[in-house]
Amino acid sequence: MSESGIDESSPLWGGRFAEPLHPVIQTFTGSLEFDRRLVRHDLLASLAHARMLREQGVLESRAADPILVGLSEMLREIDAGELAVEGPDEDVHTWIERTLVERIGDPGKQLHTARSRNDQTGIALRLYTRARLEDVLSGVAGLQRELLEQASHHRETYLPGYTHLQRGQPVSLAHHLLAHVAALSQDAARLRAAHASAGVSPLGAGALAGSSFPIAPDRSATLLGLSSAFTNSMHAVADRDYVLDAAYACAMALVHVSRWADEIVLWSTREFGFVRLRDSVSQGSSIMPQKKNPEAAEILRGKSSRAIGNVAALLSLVKGLPLTYNSDLQEDKEPLFDSLDTADWSLAAAIAIARATEYEVAAMGEALSGGMLTATELADHLVRRGVPFRTAHEQVGAAVRVAEEQGVELWELPDDALRACCPEASEEVRSALQPAAAVAAHASPGGPAPAQVLTQLGAADRALVELEGWLQGREDPPILAAHREDRLLEMTL
Ligand code: ARG
Repeated sequence: MSESGIDESSPLWGGRFAEPLHPVIQTFTGSLEFDRRLVRHDLLASLAHARMLREQGVLESRAADPILVGLSEMLREIDAGELAVEGPDEDVHTWIERTLVERIGDPGKQLHTARSRNDQTGIALRLYTRARLEDVLSGVAGLQRELLEQASHHRETYLPGYTHLQRGQPVSLAHHLLAHVAALSQDAARLRAAHASAGVSPLGAGALAGSSFPIAPDRSATLLGLSSAFTNSMHAVADRDYVLDAAYACAMALVHVSRWADEIVLWSTREFGFVRLRDSVSQGSSIMPQKKNPEAAEILRGKSSRAIGNVAALLSLVKGLPLTYNSDLQEDKEPLFDSLDTADWSLAAAIAIARATEYEVAAMGEALSGGMLTATELADHLVRRGVPFRTAHEQVGAAVRVAEEQGVELWELPDDALRACCPEASEEVRSALQPAAAVAAHASPGGPAPAQVLTQLGAADRALVELEGWLQGREDPPILAAHREDRLLEMTL
C-alpha cells in the first residue's frame, strides 16, 4: 500500500475480483512497455478532460484544481526527463491515474469521472499520431526540398528516360528528379489527410455510450486543438481508420522512397555510373577491399516492406471485430508506431543520401548515344509531312535497323539510306534528332522541355512552401499553451 491508500499493484478495476491476476496473463495483457510513449498525449487529454469537467460543473474546483496542477506537474517532469513511466501498471493510462492519486490523494480519484479507457486510449493515440505524422511530413518536405534544389541545377542535363529499363527517350535530369518530387507531393497529401482523420476527438464517448453527466465533448476537443468531436459514441471507440490512414500513408511514402533508393543503387553501379555516392553514405566489404556498396540506399529500399506488412497486420486486426472496443485493438499500437518510426527515420536517411549524391553528367550524356533514343522524333517529323503515324513507325523502324547495322546515330544516316527508308524525310530533321533538340521539342504540358520544367519547378516550389508553412504554423493546442504559461486554472477561451 502507498501513502495514498492505493495498492500499487492492484488494477483499476479490482473491485469485483476475488483473486489476483495470473502473472503470465498480467504481462501478456499489459501494454505499458509500448504505450508509455503516449504519456504526454494522455496527460494533455487528461488535462482537457479535467478542465472540461470543471467548466461543466461536473467536478468542483476542490477536486479539479489539484488534478490540473498535479497533471501539469507530471507533464513538466516528463518533458524534463525527471519522471519515468515505470511500474506494475497495465498500461500508460493506468500509470497516469495511479501516479496522480499517489501525488494528490483523493481528488485524483475523480479524474476518471465520465470517461473510460476506451475514449482515453483513442484520444491519446490520435494526438500522438498527429504529432508523429508532422515529423514524417517534415521528412517528406526535407527530401522534396533537396530534390527540388538539385533539379533546379539540371534543367539542361540530359539523360535517357527508361521504360522496361531500356533506354526510351531523352529527358532532363531536372524532369526526372521532379517525377520523384511529384510522388512525394502525393505522399504529403495522404499524410495530411491521415493527420485530419486523426483530428476528431473521441473524448466523451466513454466506454461506448457517452455519459450521464453533462459533459461537453466539443469543448475538450477545442482545448486539444481538434476541429471536431465524434458524432457517434460507439463509432468513436471502435474507429481505427486514422491508424490505418496513417500506416498506409507511411507505407506509400516508403514505397516511393524505396523506388528512389533503388534508382540510387542502380545508378551507382559501374554499369550505369550516373551517380557517385560520397563515402559518408557508403559502406565497404569485409572481404573485398575494393568494394564500395550503397548499403544505406539498400536498407532504405528494404525498410518499406515492414511498413507494407504493418498495413496488412492492421487491416486484418480490425476486420471482423464486433462493435465497439475490443482488446484486440491494443495490438494496433506496435505496427502503427513501427510505421511512424520507420517512415521518420527512413526519410532522415534518404535526405542524407540525397545530399551525398553526385551526378555524373558525362555518363548520362554518353548513355544518350547508340540507343536511337530520338527515333520517335523522326516518326513525328514524317507525320508532320503527311505520313500516317503507323506508316512512319514502320519506316523509322527500318531506318533504325540500317543505322544499327552501320553503327551510326540516326542523324548520321547517309542521305540515300535515310531516304530509302523514309522517303518523306527532309534534311532539317537531322538537327531535330539531337537529344537536346528532342527534349526542347517535347514542350507539351508536364513534359521535359526546359520551359515546361521551369513551370513544374515553380509549382512544386509553391506547393512545398505551403507545406513548410503549414508545418511551421502548427500552434500549441490551447490546453498545452495554458500548461506552458501556467494558467490552467484561470484560462478562458
Ligand atoms: N491498453 C488498452 C489499449 O491500448 C486500453 C485499455 C482499454 N481496455 C479496456 N479494458 N477497456 O487499447
